[in-house]
Amino acid sequence: ETFRILFVDEVDSTNEYLKRVPFEEALFVVADRQTKGKGRRGKNWISEKGKGLYLSGMFSLPPLSYRSLASLSFAVATVSVVKKYISRAYLKWPNDVYVDGRKLCGILVEVLKDRLIVGVGVNVSYSRDELSHLEVPATSLLAEGVSVDRKVLAEELAERIVLYKEKLYVGRFDVSEFEQFCPMVGKTVKIIDGKKSPLARVLGIDREGALIVEFDDEGGRRVGRIFSADVSVRIL
Ligand code: BTN
Repeated sequence: ETFRILFVDEVDSTNEYLKRVPFEEALFVVADRQTKGKGRRGKNWISEKGKGLYLSGMFSLPPLSYRSLASLSFAVATVSVVKKYISRAYLKWPNDVYVDGRKLCGILVEVLKDRLIVGVGVNVSYSRDELSHLEVPATSLLAEGVSVDRKVLAEELAERIVLYKEKLYVGRFDVSEFEQFCPMVGKTVKIIDGKKSPLARVLGIDREGALIVEFDDEGGRRVGRIFSADVSVRIL
């Protein structure tokens, strides 16, 4: 399958840009800088000129039954590219790429009436210092000793994203692929949900993309399903 990448200097957000243009299957946009880079849950995404890869792609809507797996499949696409450069990169459910406890990439999937938009942000050449004010510990490819051309990285990512999009849309994306890259499975995590933050053991990810955890309540064990929208999960 083919794709087209548009390189632009500056946009508010590459996701927003793709909401405004006429639909084109597998159109990607990459910006040097974003003035309003968006993260998940209403957060900002650091988007300084030339220091990150800010890429978004658009596709038709996935069949309803696979829609909840979209962000997991694009996360697998992203980590598989990053792993070529940093083999110890891993996934943190639902869709962040980490290296040694520091966030390297974030993914934001948005579903509109007529299109799905997947946005990927990769910290490319920020220094650790430039990332030190962020809410979560973060790193960049350069800070990990890797220098990659942003254009090359954009092409590799777009190609992988298209591949995983195709798997997803025909029902061939298996969550076990995500679990393979996710060291959280089998470990104890803290589920941060408003005031409460219980500990739980991760059993795995189900076919809808929910995290299956086992809480150790007084008097017994209780299995729960966690959906990405409501909580954040911290590895202990
Ligand atoms: C997150 O981890 O919170 C998701 C971050 C997603 C950032 C990317 S950068 C390219 C695209 N455009 C945006 O405004 N956001 C995504």
